[in-house]
Amino acid sequence: MKRRPATYWDYIKTEELLALQTGLDGDESGLANDEVMFIVIHQIDELWFKLVLRELVAIRDLFAAEHVAEQSLSTAVRGLRRTELLFRQVSSHFALMETLTTRDYLGFRDKLSPASGFQSAQLREIEILLGLRAEDRISLGNENSYLDALRHEDGTPSPAFRRVVARLEDRPPLREALTSWLFRTPINGSTPDRDGDETVVRAFVDDYVRAKRDDLESVLRRAIEDAPEDEHSRLTQRYRREAENARAFLLAEDKPEAERARSSRIRAALLFIESYRELPLLAWPREVLDAIVALEQAIVIFRQRHARMVERVIGRRTGTGGSAGVEYLDQTALRYRVFHDIWAVRTLLMKRERLPRLEHTEPYGFALEEA
Ligand code: HEM
Repeated sequence: MKRRPATYWDYIKTEELLALQTGLDGDESGLANDEVMFIVIHQIDELWFKLVLRELVAIRDLFAAEHVAEQSLSTAVRGLRRTELLFRQVSSHFALMETLTTRDYLGFRDKLSPASGFQSAQLREIEILLGLRAEDRISLGNENSYLDALRHEDGTPSPAFRRVVARLEDRPPLREALTSWLFRTPINGSTPDRDGDETVVRAFVDDYVRAKRDDLESVLRRAIEDAPEDEHSRLTQRYRREAENARAFLLAEDKPEAERARSSRIRAALLFIESYRELPLLAWPREVLDAIVALEQAIVIFRQRHARMVERVIGRRTGTGGSAGVEYLDQTALRYRVFHDIWAVRTLLMKRERLPRLEHTEPYGFALEEA
């Protein structure tokens, strides 16, 4: 049978899409332009979140595989960069939202209450898929968990609730998949399945810590030369503490004893990739780390930008979802981080001439594998 020629409207579902801005009353004709814009921006943002989720699932699956082929890393980087850009798009919509004045918004705000962006199941899914843990979440100051906010009024599960619960069961989160991959990184030519790997990793860490201490001592000497005498002891303490923090971080002293060796290897791998990125085999892993940082930065900026828009439109009043409003949103921007170690390693990096010399660079040439 001959296929009906495709049309733009069938493919994009334009009529269905344009019929979705009716608000709670099911009739768009009674709504002010401000309210239709408010609805459209939220709908567009939910669509961007949908794309973010699809990309993140694909990237997570890639890193969760037992073997991650080198050439698939460029695909992961492309997905991460797209995800970063999607968050930037969402942030850019807040300027449009700011064309709404406080009084305009108050004109229709009451009817939304107690609905809130706090009930955006897809943002929760994104957070869970990235690896934000329930214990890291900020309480709203009442008994309800973020999951309870997604239940119907009578306590029964809503589609949003079911979505988030399904995502909690969809494991592993990207952070875990990524750390399993990082854990296997060859460090000075050694991998975790080889005898003596711990000794090789420890030697790399010790060399690095020594080089970092020397580096900080030379920075300190210069800082002291330029500083008044009464500043010397404060500066000395500060730089020496930085060296001590670097050592404690690389040996994962903040972790329980049983997890230390694994965490220390992962942190050493991060440092190794960032420091010796000119080695061909480390070039793409380093791009992956950079794209992760760019994505998490874009999410933090999204949270901050949302908070600034909210402050401008409603001031510091209580949110429709019952939170402390701007104060709560600022807390999420400050505290919701997933890739702590990738950020933390940046404090430890040094200029090229200061890096310990590598003994085994041969394993880091290009190795093309079957796709
Ligand atoms: C005039 C416009 C807006 C105002 C006044 C506003 C206000 C708020 C407030 C006060 C909260 C804190 C929770 C609460 O107590 O309700 C919140 C949460 C949230 N809003 Fe908005 N918002 C607006 C527009 C948007 C838009 C366009 C988005 C689209 C992405 C959005 C997404 C969210 C999300 C995802 C949360 C949950 C944040 C979290 O818990 O980490 N909001 N909003």
